Amino acid sequence: MSQAVVAEPQRLVRANGVHRDIYRDPDVFAAEMDRIFTRTWVYLAHESEVPENGDYLTLRIGLEPVVLVRGEDGRLRALVNRCRHRAAVVCEQPVGNAKSFRCQYHGWTYRNTGELVGVPYPERHSADVRERLGLISLPRVESYRGLIFASFAEDVPPLAEHLGPGVTGYIDRFMDQCLGLPLVAHRQAHRIAMNANWKLQVENGLDGYHAGFTHRSFFDVMQRRTGSSVRYASSLPTATSRAFRNGHCAIDPETSSRKPLIARVRTLPEATQRLDQLLAEVGEERFEDYLAGLPGAGINIGVFPNLQLIGIHIRRIEPVAVNKTVVSVRPLLVEGAPESLNWLRLRYHELFYGPAGFGQPDDFEMFDRVETGLDAAHDGWLRFERGLGEETPAGDGDADTVVGNVTDETPQRGQYRQWVALMAGQVRP
Ligand code: FES
Ligand SMILES: [Fe+2]
Repeated sequence: MSQAVVAEPQRLVRANGVHRDIYRDPDVFAAEMDRIFTRTWVYLAHESEVPENGDYLTLRIGLEPVVLVRGEDGRLRALVNRCRHRAAVVCEQPVGNAKSFRCQYHGWTYRNTGELVGVPYPERHSADVRERLGLISLPRVESYRGLIFASFAEDVPPLAEHLGPGVTGYIDRFMDQCLGLPLVAHRQAHRIAMNANWKLQVENGLDGYHAGFTHRSFFDVMQRRTGSSVRYASSLPTATSRAFRNGHCAIDPETSSRKPLIARVRTLPEATQRLDQLLAEVGEERFEDYLAGLPGAGINIGVFPNLQLIGIHIRRIEPVAVNKTVVSVRPLLVEGAPESLNWLRLRYHELFYGPAGFGQPDDFEMFDRVETGLDAAHDGWLRFERGLGEETPAGDGDADTVVGNVTDETPQRGQYRQWVALMAGQVRP
C-alpha cells in the first residue's frame, strides 16, 4: 500500500482534505525528505546569525546534515556536513567561528570554503585527493530580506521568483515591523521537540480558525488582566487568509489598532518602568510608533516547506522522523534600539511563545491529540474544507494568489497543492 501511494501521492490529497497516511507512513516521510526538501528552496537562517567571515551554524535540510558558513571570501555557502573520507560530520558545534573544519576521525581538514586542504600522510593517497574530495557545496544559496535559503537542486528558479510578489510583500511588512529599523536575530532560540509529524506545525502556524479555542485560556487571562474584552480576529469579516504561489501563505487579522496588544504589553511585570524608560529615550513624538512596532507586524506568514514568520520571531520547522519534529523559535530584536524596547519585545514574545509560554504549548497539546486521533483507521480523512469555493483572486500582482476569510482553510489547501506538486514531481523544473 504505502509504496503505491508514494508512487501516486495525489491519492492522499483531495481539494477538501488529506489522508492520515501523510502523517503516519514512513515511506511517505522518506519520499518527502527526498522530493520536497532536496527539490525546492529550504530556509536555513537569518543573515545576522552569520555576520562575520568564518561564522557558521549547523542544521539539517530534511535529514541531510549541513553547515551554513560565511567563508573567508565573505560568501555564504551551505556545505554538506559529512567528511568525504568515511562520512563523519566535520563540524559538531551548533554555532561558532572557524577558518577550517577538521574531521576528528582521521584528521582531514577542510577550509571554511569547503576546499580539502589537509590529508594526514598524503604520500599514501593519490596525488589528486585534495582536488577531488572537497566538501559538497549546495549549488544554490540566496537570501531575501536577510532570510537565507538553499537548495540541493541546481535548476530551481531564482529565490525571488520562487517566492513571488504575494508573499514577498508580506515578508517586507514583517521585516519593516518596527519603524523599518533593521532586525537582528537573537543569539538563542527555543528548540522544542514534539512527537508529531512536521506538517501539523506547518498547518497550525497559519491556522486562523483555532486561536479562540486552543488559546482560550490566554485570551481569558488577558481579558482579566487588561480589563477590556478581547475580540479575536476570527470575528472580523475583513480579516483574511491568503494562499500565494508555491504553497506560501499568510493570515492577516487586519487590525489597524495596536491597542489590544499594547494593553497586553502593559500587563507584563516591570512593564511600567520599562515603558517609562523607552519614553524617556525616544521622546514623546516617536514613542507611539515604537510602541506600535513592539509586538511585531500582527501577521503570520508561511514559506513552504519550513519557515514561518510570526509575531517577532522566525520559526524553523525541522522534520526528524515521521512522528518527530523540532520547532525552533528565534526572536528578532531591533538593531540599535533602546534596550528597554528589546526587553519589552522579548518579554511579550515569551508571554505566548516558547516552552513556558502561555500559548504555544497549547498547540503542542493539540498535536498530541491529533496524533492519538490518527490511530483511528476508520475515516482516514482530515478536512480542510472551510471556505472552499468562496475564495477570490487577490489582485496583488500574482495571478495565483487567492484570498479567504481569516478562519478559512485557504492556507492549508495551498500548502497541500504544493505538497502534491512536489511529491508528484510536477514542479518546474
Ligand atoms: S572520516 Fe573524516 S578523516 Fe576519516
Ligand atoms: Fe496556536
